[in-house]
Amino acid sequence: EGVITIDPGYKNTGSCESAITFLDGEKGILRYRGYSIEELAEKADFLEVAYLLIFGELPTKEQNDKFHNDIKAQSIVDDDVRKIVDAFPKTAHPMGVVASLTSALTAFNPSSVNVNSEEDMYKAIVKILGKFPVLVAWTYRRKFGLPLDYGDNSLGYVENILKMMFSQPNACYVQSKILVDALDKLLILHADHEQNCSTSTVRITGSSHAGLFASLSAGISALWGPLHGGANQAVLEMLEAIKADDGDTKKYMAKAKDKDDPFRLMGFGHRVYKNFDPRAKIIKKAADEVLANLGVEDPILDIAKGLEKEALEDQYFVDRKLYPNVDFYSGIIYRGMGIPTDMFTVMFALGRLPGWIAQWREMRLNKEPIGRPRQIYVGATHRPFVPLDKR
Ligand code: CMC
Repeated sequence: EGVITIDPGYKNTGSCESAITFLDGEKGILRYRGYSIEELAEKADFLEVAYLLIFGELPTKEQNDKFHNDIKAQSIVDDDVRKIVDAFPKTAHPMGVVASLTSALTAFNPSSVNVNSEEDMYKAIVKILGKFPVLVAWTYRRKFGLPLDYGDNSLGYVENILKMMFSQPNACYVQSKILVDALDKLLILHADHEQNCSTSTVRITGSSHAGLFASLSAGISALWGPLHGGANQAVLEMLEAIKADDGDTKKYMAKAKDKDDPFRLMGFGHRVYKNFDPRAKIIKKAADEVLANLGVEDPILDIAKGLEKEALEDQYFVDRKLYPNVDFYSGIIYRGMGIPTDMFTVMFALGRLPGWIAQWREMRLNKEPIGRPRQIYVGATHRPFVPLDKR
């Protein structure tokens, strides 16, 4: 056995070789399969990006149509899933509901667990891409007591997600191109980010040959935390708190810098980006455009801009290379779209789904061994058992 070196947080430990996402934290570069995030966000749609991440190339028109049709064919879930959705309290956090429902899908689709060929993988992949948006929409609808309906397969993938979430009984559903384009862009920007906490969770869970859905459910749970995907909810709650506190950004800046205070400026800092987060740049611009197009004037956006400016000029943040990350402005757009704060991280999961799938597939195709880090034991040395009456 070799010498074990510990690396808390795996800051300098590579877990795999990957051909999916390239990230240069110093230069602020993010590419999926070689294509820059700026270009994809501008020119591609989310389903094309999903195909690119999972299968390695942008799809031809035929491949794209087949992929979409195969997904549509999987876009209903077993009717008994409704009973599970209904069993959750309306106040349940949507991330817990979505993680549970994703895990429960395994029970309804046992054939998706043992994947022994690329064809088996493909079937499991289109299944989850078809069914996950239904779970997301039902989680949202349950919260508001709306009927658990299906979407409309004549619509595009992202359009249909919005319809599934927002359509009301007895009302003609009018689709807004602004909302569809904005969501498309947000989902693309969140689609993959190499070996982050949730993706590593998906890969390590899948490395035991647990099924795809179980691995994704583990990833969703990892994403939930406020240091990871949950930051988008935490950012908005922080901005709301500042607004309620007469917009006193200085007070929150001081709290963030105080080492005796656990508070951190949410939406700031990143393990890898030490210059800027390219996704944040695109999202900031999109937030301005989307809110203007929707005619929403949100004082929260002004507070966010003020806070960003203060932090970027503050020596504490400059010294530690802390910049706004993808989550700093995404919540403001979601809010403008009418999505409730506790659903923000679910929207992140919706975007990250193709990335998790691509990473899981790559891990299985590369026949990676089971993930099993070692440790350095620092506990008690051998000691004799003491019976209960002698303790
Ligand atoms: N506010 C105040 N101080 C911070 C912050 C922050 N947001 N982020 C890092 N620091 C300080 C930290 O206290 C430490 O200071 P010191 O060197 O004096 O001890 C230094 O900066 C380095 O931080 P770290 O915790 O060692 O860095 P990390 O790479 O382990 O953590 C992070 C990265 C993203 C978890 C962290 O920056 C953070 O907690 N940010 C706020 C939460 C957030 O926005 N998360 C979303 C990340 S992007 C999307 C995603 O991953 O889902």
